[in-house]
Amino acid sequence: MRILGTGSYLPQNKLSNEDLSKLVDTNDEWVVSRTGIKSRHLVKDENTSDLATKAAKAVLETTGVDVRDIQLVIVATSTPDVFIPGVAHQVLKNLHIPNAMAFDVNAACTGFIYALDVATSLMQTHAFKYGLIIGAEAFSKVIDWHDRNTCVLFGDGAGTVLLENHQEKNQIIYTSCTAIPDVDDVLKSGGIAVNNPFNRQKTDNFFLGMKGQEVFKFAVRVVCESVNKALVETGIDAQAVDYYVLHQANSRILDHVAKKLSVPSEKFYSTLEDTGNTSAASIPIVLDVMDRKQLLKKGMKIVLTGFGAGLTYGTILIEW
Ligand code: ACO
Repeated sequence: MRILGTGSYLPQNKLSNEDLSKLVDTNDEWVVSRTGIKSRHLVKDENTSDLATKAAKAVLETTGVDVRDIQLVIVATSTPDVFIPGVAHQVLKNLHIPNAMAFDVNAACTGFIYALDVATSLMQTHAFKYGLIIGAEAFSKVIDWHDRNTCVLFGDGAGTVLLENHQEKNQIIYTSCTAIPDVDDVLKSGGIAVNNPFNRQKTDNFFLGMKGQEVFKFAVRVVCESVNKALVETGIDAQAVDYYVLHQANSRILDHVAKKLSVPSEKFYSTLEDTGNTSAASIPIVLDVMDRKQLLKKGMKIVLTGFGAGLTYGTILIEW
């Protein structure tokens, strides 16, 4: 499986910590020191499918792959525009992809890792030539903009990789995804209540709720566990990895993981300052930013690790 290209898209509209301090009782110093985030991009006249479409369009343009050759589209998202059709089906329509297996994956912030894992297997099983794997989120839709505990953390955006089923070249050398039950509901959004002739419940809270310190501890623990498992199973030393591209939740999580793995924090590339936490979109956005900055060189070993609600987590090791 070959990674033919990457793409990303961030809404133009930005919200700085300074802007946020006019909405809730917070300040730039608190947010930067706790999270590393200075500003985030938020949708205005766009929705998740627009972000996904624009990220996918970018990679199609740079690689020159014809939409008629795309046989698989997976969108990792937990903030779709509508319940049906899926965001992947809206991408199909927007980009005039005539015929492809298409579906959404919801594994929260680990969604892109799950999607890439599933795509690798599916493309081999069905001998698909090209697959678009997208992470896209408009998380700002499910945030309570009066809750300073959560609203400072998130942003909107999309990222994508274009996979080619290449017989000689395999860049995805290890995949592992899992989930453990979130018994204490440390990370959970509201939903749509049952409303039918038998039960007329009211939907009262749609917003994301989070037990921040529990999430922090979970993240550091499972990321280290997942990365170490990948390194042991592939026989690669932690120091031999060129970059660790982790889900961008919080710079302190990245620093703690770097310390625990005894790896220099410079190997943990981050876009948090400008993007905030874009959930399932964060890993492909980082990859695209790094690729455009020409930081990724042929043969480099890169660990991708996601973690999030579910509680989900997973690691993919790629060779660029
Ligand atoms: N601005 C100012 N003060 C704030 C803010 C804010 N935005 N948010 C909370 N506070 C206050 C709290 O009210 C509290 O005040 P109090 O002592 O008077 O009660 C104080 O700051 C400390 O609150 P804590 O929640 O203990 O703050 P903490 O140091 O744990 O930092 C944070 C909170 C940044 C959320 C931290 O717990 C964390 O990084 N958790 C990881 C969670 C995360 O990254 N989630 C992302 C989504 S999940 C994912 O992507 C997988």
